[in-house]
Amino acid sequence: MDNPTWQQVDDFLEKLLAPDDPTLSAALAAAEAAGLPAIQVSRMQAQFLHILARAIGARRILELGTLGGYSGIWLARALPADGQLVTLEAEARHAEVAAANFAAAGVSERVRLHVGPALETLPTLLAEYEAGFDLCFLDADKANLPAYFDWARRLTRKGGLILSDNVVRSGQVLNGTDASSQGARSLLQALGNRGDSAVLQTVGSKGYDGFALTIVE
Ligand code: SAH
Ligand code: DHB
Ligand code: MG
Repeated sequence: MDNPTWQQVDDFLEKLLAPDDPTLSAALAAAEAAGLPAIQVSRMQAQFLHILARAIGARRILELGTLGGYSGIWLARALPADGQLVTLEAEARHAEVAAANFAAAGVSERVRLHVGPALETLPTLLAEYEAGFDLCFLDADKANLPAYFDWARRLTRKGGLILSDNVVRSGQVLNGTDASSQGARSLLQALGNRGDSAVLQTVGSKGYDGFALTIVE
């Protein structure tokens, strides 16, 4: 399903729309050197996330799935000085790389990184953050997407946004029997037809996928 033009166009867009950013290049290099999988959002997707966060004036953002902190840096950069990114990561090794990358990017003060399975951390956030986030980015394991979405709904303010990544999966969302495809499909089935969710299919350097955007009512 991959098409070389998608990569070429993404390269073209990056040249035109993405300034050289040594901090970001260093973050990616550190993640690669540590052997982390290169499954972070693309540069264009990162800038899209950043613009979305700025457009809604996000002051508190929740991210599930930190990896090496690439999307986290972009989200943290969208915050005001007293804003906060809470980001959850199951793998200590990933979190270590991310923490160093956040420090090098100068955003550590705005980032709270929790190590552990998200489903264990999420209940602990309720006391401090119930209906407190402006934006949630769901990008951890996709098998648990429906459960993550339920938590995100409780933790997001009215009018806030939930962005769920990787819900199209080269079309595997239709019939795929792997846990990730089933998770994505269950999420879409649970979203409901109230018109408060939209899925945008995407192509680019990460192949054919898509994300769901929900406004919390
Ligand atoms: N958002 C990142 C990419 C995340 S990749 C970026 O774009 O830069 C998915 C991450 O989710 C991986 O680091 C993986 O270790 C983590 N993850 C997987 N299962 C998890 C779980 N149960 N709880 C928290 N994080 C999990
Ligand atoms: C994978 C995870 C992601 O979040 C993504 O955007 C692409 C791939 C993966 O686990 O392979
Ligand atoms: Mg993803």
